[in-house]
Order: sequence, then C-alpha cells, then structure tokens
Amino acid sequence: MESTKKDRHMSADFLDEEKLMQATEAQSLGHFIKRFTINPKNKRKNSGESGMYISKEVVEKRNKKLAPKAPESKEKCKLILPDGTEVELSILEGTLGPKMLDIRDLYAKTGMFTFDPGYTASGSCVSAITYIDGGKGQLLYRGYKIEDLAANCTFIETCFLLLYGELPTASDLADFEERVKDEMLVHEKLKDFFKGFNPKAHPMAIMCSVIGALSSFYHEDLDIEDPKQRERVAIQMIAKFPTLAAFSFRTSMGLPMVYPRRDLSYTENFLHMMFSDPMDQEAVVEPVMTEALDKILLLHADHEQNASTSTVRIAGSSKANPFACISAGIASLWGPAHGGANQACIEMLQEIGEATNIPKYIEKAKDKKDPFRIMGFGHRVYKNFDPRATVMAKMCKKVVETMDSKNQEMLSIALELERIALEDDYFISRKLYPNVDFYSGIVLQELSIPTNMFTVIFALARTIGWVCQWKEMMSEDTVKIGRPRQLYVGEKCREFVAMNER
Ligand code: CMC
Repeated sequence: MESTKKDRHMSADFLDEEKLMQATEAQSLGHFIKRFTINPKNKRKNSGESGMYISKEVVEKRNKKLAPKAPESKEKCKLILPDGTEVELSILEGTLGPKMLDIRDLYAKTGMFTFDPGYTASGSCVSAITYIDGGKGQLLYRGYKIEDLAANCTFIETCFLLLYGELPTASDLADFEERVKDEMLVHEKLKDFFKGFNPKAHPMAIMCSVIGALSSFYHEDLDIEDPKQRERVAIQMIAKFPTLAAFSFRTSMGLPMVYPRRDLSYTENFLHMMFSDPMDQEAVVEPVMTEALDKILLLHADHEQNASTSTVRIAGSSKANPFACISAGIASLWGPAHGGANQACIEMLQEIGEATNIPKYIEKAKDKKDPFRIMGFGHRVYKNFDPRATVMAKMCKKVVETMDSKNQEMLSIALELERIALEDDYFISRKLYPNVDFYSGIVLQELSIPTNMFTVIFALARTIGWVCQWKEMMSEDTVKIGRPRQLYVGEKCREFVAMNER
C-alpha cells in the first residue's frame, strides 16, 4: 500500500541519520522541524509555501535586475608615454563618486601596469550596494542615508534592503524574518567542532573555523551558478552566524549552548543565545540593550570594498565555496587596523585609565618612533567625519545613562580624548576623526559582551555585506578571477649554484 506523505516523513527509515542529513540540507532545519508542530499562536502559514519560498523565475528576474553593469565610456583622455607615444584611455562615470580611468587595456596598449599598493586609488569592481563619500561624511546603503536607516529601520530590515535592493513591505519583512529563522538552527554535528578548540581560543579563531566548516555541510549539492541557491546561501549565512557566534561564547564560558527561538527578533535571538540563564527562564534582556546592539549591527552591515569585503570577493572570484569565502573575510576582519579596532580601542581606554594621562598618550600617538595609535581614530575613506560614529556616539550616551553604568568613567575619558585630539594640529592636518569603533566598544562593554567577542559582533554585522557583495559579483556575466600584479625588485634570473659550491 502506498504510504502517505506524512507516513513517509515519520517512518523509522526516514529518521535514519544519513537520510535525515539529506532531508535537512534540502530544506532548512527550522522548516523541517516546523512541519511536525503546530503553534496556535502563530497565525502565519506553517507550510513554508508562502511568499518567501518564491519561484526560480522570480529569483532569476531579481538577480538580473541587481547585477551591476559597467557604464559605457562617454569620455576619453590621453596618456603620453616617455617615448612620446600617445595612448587613449576611456573614462568611466558611475552614478556617484569620482570618475575612473579604465585601464583594463593599459598593458595591451603600453606594456605597463599600474602601481597602487593597498589599492588606495584603484577600483576593483562595479557595485550598486553601498556608497561612501569620505569628504562629505556620507554613507549610503542602496541609496539610503545611514542616518535615516539607523533612525527608522531594524538590522534585519536593512539586511533585506541590502540583499534585494529595496526596502521591504511589512509582509515582505515578516516573510523574510521567518525565512531567516528557519535557517537559524545549525546541524547538531557542527556542535562537536566546538569541543576541539583550546578553551582559551579567541572567538574569532573559532568563527573562522566553524563558518568555514559550514562548507563541509553545504558543498556537494550547492550550485553557486544558480541564483536561487545563492539567495539561500545568503540567508543561511546571516541566519547561522548568530547561532554559531553565541555557541562560541557559551563554549568559552563553559555554559550550555542555547538554541534560537521563533518568537524573538533576530537581535533578541542573538542576545538570548548569548545570555539566557539556564536557571531563570523568565529573565529577559533589557530593551535598550537590544536597541543598541541592533544599531551596531546596522551601522556595520556593509562598507564598500574594504579589506575583508575585498578578501571575500577575491576568494569568491575563484568560484570557491561561499562559506569558505566568508571565513576568509572573517580572518581579514580580525586585525586591529580593521574589525579589531573596537577591542583595541577599549584596551587603549583601559590603559589610559584616567583623564590626566590623556596628553601623554596624545604625544605617544604623534611620535613616529612609537607604534601607539589612537584606536578608533582615522579612516582610509572618511576625511571629515564618520557618519556611523555620530549615530554610535548618541547611542553610547543613551546606553550609559539608561543603564546607570560603571562605564561612565570610560565614556568621559573617550569624550575628553576626542576633544583634545580634535584641537590638536597633528590630528586636524591629517583629517583624523573618531570612527564608528571609537564608541561601539564602550556600548559593547555596556552590553556585557566580553572584549574578545567585539570583533565577532562586527563580523556578525558584516556578514550581510560580505554575502551581498559575493552574490553581486556572482551575478555578473563573467566573474574575473582576482589577480593583482607586482613591481618585482628581487634578484634577476641567475645561474643555479650546486650544493658543494655554495
Ligand atoms: N593615531 C595616530 N596617527 C594616525 C592614526 C591614529 N589612529 N591614524 C592615522 N594616523 C596618521 C599616520 O601615522 C599617518 O601619518 P603621516 O602622514 O605623518 O605618516 C597619517 O595619519 C595617515 O595615516 P595612514 O595610516 O596612512 O592612513 P590609512 O588610510 O592607511 O589608515 C587606518 C587608516 C584606519 C588604518 C588608520 O587611521 C588607523 O590605523 N586607525 C586606527 C585603527 C582604527 O581605528 N581602525 C578602524 C577603522 S574603522 C573600521 C572599519 O571600517 O574597518
């Protein structure tokens, strides 16, 4: 007799571990579990067939719309070589920002490459996600000002905007949040990885590994050429990151791991998984903590072609597994000149200790023989102010006041350090202003997030940016593998010297 669909799912055969693994990979773990339960309070359809599980055609149409196109050149310029030869180069103009010299055919025309260590003047891609005007102190996500988004949106709403190019309607957002929740559980086998780490391991070391390890669960059946699968990867990435980040924290503390809950928002879920008290099920997180963390996530969601994003793009350009590419991005973010600045900033404020020590540290920062720098100060792109820092400074004051905090002292030192630095000619002439991390560290400290988890929070926020940039690159007609050139200054070709002659 033919078994019903329900029978098949409940049969012992189906619960065989290998088959269960296949089943749960084909559809999200959350969705799989949801099929066996009914929650009378949940008015949304429990079938998983609602708007979010959209057809391949819709995804392909969206993908086409979001694929960035390099503009046609309308202007040319001439380059005169030392021998007097004139070479014509095209000039490209985007919708915003400085024009760019198109040097793609420079080598063919001149036999020369360009030299630009740190890519301070080179465009590496076309993109329609984020725009920064460093001079104006402007940051736009899909054309919307960061200040407006920070004042009116949640982080998950911002994820939708970055991923799909438009702000969601209420129903789009509800579907999207549900879809993210469906992906928040991680395979139980992944939890075993956490047993293998040194108990003192830095959580960023753990995150590089476990996010990379997701590629061992999602590889064989993953077709990165399929836009629908790429969209799913994007959702899996942002959904599983908070779960794994909280697991890494709970492991380092020796606390039991906590699972996500369907009734909580994205940010509440992360705080719940981080801080839930196994002995007090009724304890809830202070709303101002959720607000502050949500703001931090939103402000860090994307930031053009920075070091970690470029790393993700370069790794992805070889068509590598996207989870492995994000792991590469996490590694790049880890350093104190990038995502590690918030941790470094708190450590610096602790080292300064009291306001009377500030002048001594300002002198150290100015002394070229001293490696000390004011952490959370300066930016490669922002040269007037960092708009994220303005929002973060306000949030920082609100949190410290609401929580009646012991961090009041640290905030006073930060404010005084900022005041003195901004009156000092060294900082003025080099256009060095506080960046977002100058204040985000204090907020995170206020949220009881341990210092070594700060960069993990940054990575949690930036995952949406990384995955959108990867997705955008993959949607182009041809993906060019990243392969910079070098100015070689080593030995010229020489004769090999045999061992007995050296
Ligand atoms: N303290 C003291 N001097 C500084 C600082 C600082 N924080 N930042 C830059 N300078 C000086 C630097 O010594 C140099 O001086 P000079 O021209 O005399 O040699 C000049 O300012 C230009 O600095 P740079 O290192 O050439 O600038 P950059 O664009 O390569 O580096 C930066 C930008 C963010 C790496 C750097 O400002 C820095 O190390 N800041 C502290 C770390 C930090 O806060 N990083 C977080 C960045 S924001 C988060 C993110 O978006 O990733």
